[in-house]
Amino acid sequence: MKSGGNRTKEHPSGDNRFKLLDRSITKHQSSGSALIEVLHAAQEIFGYLEEDLLVYVARALRLPMSSVWGVATFYHLFRLKPKGKHTFVLCTGTACYVKGAGEIQHAVEKLCGVKFGETTPDQNISLISARCVGSCGLAPVAVVDDAVVGKLTVTDAQVRVDQWKHQPEEIAQ
Ligand code: FES
Repeated sequence: MKSGGNRTKEHPSGDNRFKLLDRSITKHQSSGSALIEVLHAAQEIFGYLEEDLLVYVARALRLPMSSVWGVATFYHLFRLKPKGKHTFVLCTGTACYVKGAGEIQHAVEKLCGVKFGETTPDQNISLISARCVGSCGLAPVAVVDDAVVGKLTVTDAQVRVDQWKHQPEEIAQ
């Protein structure tokens, strides 16, 4: 995940999730509860709040990083970067769900032995769900260690996760 950049242009990573986040920032930036609303939106889009995402929000809302960090860590509803070495963020938004995200979710949970929202006991894999990652045309979509993967099949998801299980030192792409 990369941070920074001009919010009026496409994010340098080409990651559509930042477009969704920018929309939320524009919508809420003049409201008194902008920070909480934007962090909430960021978590729904990315699945969790990584530090560089908090920096992005702080810059966009022109707030000191200490305020953003303080709010993100104070409220239990916010999830900071998960403990797992690898992250599998599955989009469970409507378009992805209709195209089979539910089957992928079930298969990946079975393979890892934990539910979405949890991390495997060896801290190797965290499973997270997001509401829409802005690539509905590619549904079903998952973000696999920061790489957006579209048209995901159950088998493809299983292969990627299985690779992590057997080679936890390597990062699958
Ligand atoms: S619903 Fe999954 S990318 Fe939009």
